[in-house]
Amino acid sequence: MDVLVVGAGVVGSATGRGLSKLGHRVRFVDTSPGVVVSLASEGFDACLPTEYSKQNFAPRVAILSVPTPEMPDGQVNLSYIDKAAQFCANNVVGTNADDHVTIVVRSTVPPGTTRSRILPRIAETVGSDPGSTYSICFHPEFLRAVSADEDFMNPWAIVAGVEDNRSREAIMKLYEKIECGVMFTDIETAEMIKYASNCFNATKISFSNEIWNLAAKLGLNGNRVLAIARNTAEGYWNQTYGTLGGRPYGGTCLPKDTSGLLSFAQRLGVDMPLLSAVIEVNDRMEAMADDGEVAQATIAGPYREPSPALAEPAK
Ligand SMILES: NC(=O)c1ccc[n+]([C@@H]2O[C@H](COP(=O)([O-])OP(=O)(O)OC[C@H]3O[C@@H](n4cnc5c(N)ncnc54)[C@H](O)[C@@H]3O)[C@@H](O)[C@H]2O)c1
Repeated sequence: MDVLVVGAGVVGSATGRGLSKLGHRVRFVDTSPGVVVSLASEGFDACLPTEYSKQNFAPRVAILSVPTPEMPDGQVNLSYIDKAAQFCANNVVGTNADDHVTIVVRSTVPPGTTRSRILPRIAETVGSDPGSTYSICFHPEFLRAVSADEDFMNPWAIVAGVEDNRSREAIMKLYEKIECGVMFTDIETAEMIKYASNCFNATKISFSNEIWNLAAKLGLNGNRVLAIARNTAEGYWNQTYGTLGGRPYGGTCLPKDTSGLLSFAQRLGVDMPLLSAVIEVNDRMEAMADDGEVAQATIAGPYREPSPALAEPAK
């Protein structure tokens, strides 16, 4: 299948290289002349956006893997993805239904961005609704920068937020030679999964650092504490532990031991802002549960059940 990769940095380059190995015909488009020259010198089909031509190339999939960095106020800078989407609307989407292209948003974007920002931009330019000559989906990337090429070829999870069969089929075709099922969701759920994944990773690292700091203050080897706690805490070894939201923790130990360690550390002059936040989140969740708000929030939230066919793992 012909696949266009827009943005050939860490993610785009690993994706394009991997798809090439899997037998797809890949063309890279990147705004950086250095990136284009470097890929071309390796024998890849690569060009600047201004040089892009449809000649001898009929992409069924266009993958947008441009940066989404943070702005000084913390918001996500969506200007690159806006431009990449505009590029696809102007140059990639055709007028013929036989040349249908699935636009795959691979960059990390806040939930709702694909549907309410990227899609209208494309629809406005091409003047038709999705489903006719194009579809759009969100397909988060989980690879690690240090082992990007290897991770692309050996993914531990493939997630795609799709809402039509053309997108679903396009994603299935991309990975038909990879031994990993695809978990299909709706678009916003896939966008949220990407943030949940990275924020969990960040939280876990900060938790370790907080414990490590307190251990150091006590003259203990924090890494030894954490290495053994990996075996003793059910939250580490039981993958599903604590993954059901909407209910606070309780019981005889968690409430008293979180407060107990926080106050012990405070008396030693050690700040534990994460542990403090853990207790605060739980207090709020308890208050919501008491008011019956938790159940309501769960029902009234933006989550929409994907159709059963799309929710099933592909393999
Ligand atoms: N780096 C990672 O490990 C990683 C992992 C998962 C997801 N992500 C997400 O993937 C996205 C891309 O990240 P990255 O690390 O590959 O970024 P990167 O900075 O390495 O590469 C982005 C590339 O896009 C090019 N570019 C910018 N605007 C363009 C445009 N309008 N048209 C064509 N090319 C354009 C740049 O020249 C650059 O080569 C981000 O949203 C990021 O959050 C990154």
